[in-house]
Amino acid sequence: MLGEKCMGKIEKPFWEATYSKEESASTFNDGKPSWDVVEVLEKHLHSGKVLDLGCGDGRNALYAASLGYEVTAVDISNAGISKLNDIAKKRDLSVEAIVQDMRNFRSEELFNVVISHGCLHLLYRDEWMTVLHNIKAMTAPDGLNIVVVFTDKVPPSPDMKPFTKGLFKEGELFDQYSGWTIHHQSSHVLEDDHGNGIHHVHAVNRIIAQKTTNKNYSRDSLPF
Ligand SMILES: C[S@@+](CC[C@H](N)C(=O)[O-])C[C@H]1O[C@@H](n2cnc3c(N)ncnc32)[C@H](O)[C@@H]1O
Repeated sequence: MLGEKCMGKIEKPFWEATYSKEESASTFNDGKPSWDVVEVLEKHLHSGKVLDLGCGDGRNALYAASLGYEVTAVDISNAGISKLNDIAKKRDLSVEAIVQDMRNFRSEELFNVVISHGCLHLLYRDEWMTVLHNIKAMTAPDGLNIVVVFTDKVPPSPDMKPFTKGLFKEGELFDQYSGWTIHHQSSHVLEDDHGNGIHHVHAVNRIIAQKTTNKNYSRDSLPF
């Protein structure tokens, strides 16, 4: 479907409709967690606090909770958080799920992992810069950030154009993590279809970075 239309204007991004459908599978990747989250949470860490900013209906947050992590999940979408809570209840998982604008999210506690998957480019450039700054500040010493954004290497899909305020320049996500230990950084083009049959592509930049305090830290201690 092509977002929710009202008199020709797209009022909501496509994911709001699937968030609202109780019976449907989770919206992104059929509800499966992303590989980067699996690598970090299963193969490297074994416990700790995870923050998922812009969690949607919770594929990564729920997965982290299923592994026993203490999870905070934040999204501006009521429908997304409500669906996450329903799934958590059915699966007997514990997630602190909060409806909040990530631009206003602050926390006194530090997180061992902060995930931000596919959302920062939805904010204006100066806004995502501030949110990234906050994400890094809320990361515990030796904690990890897993961040995925879309870049200006290709234009946004027509249905997402109204909601894509601040595409990253190709590579600039990586510049934001100078001084951190970089375990993975990649750039690729993702073929996609938002359920409306219109095939399109997104340019993706992904980083897994660690707030390294131990200067002798070896990147080999992570499996990627
Ligand atoms: C493409 S979805 C990705 C969802 C999830 N991270 C995933 O990978 O499955 C982007 C999400 O960002 C959320 N979002 C957009 N702007 C936001 C904001 N200002 N604060 C919090 N969440 C926001 C949307 O509601 C949506 O759930």
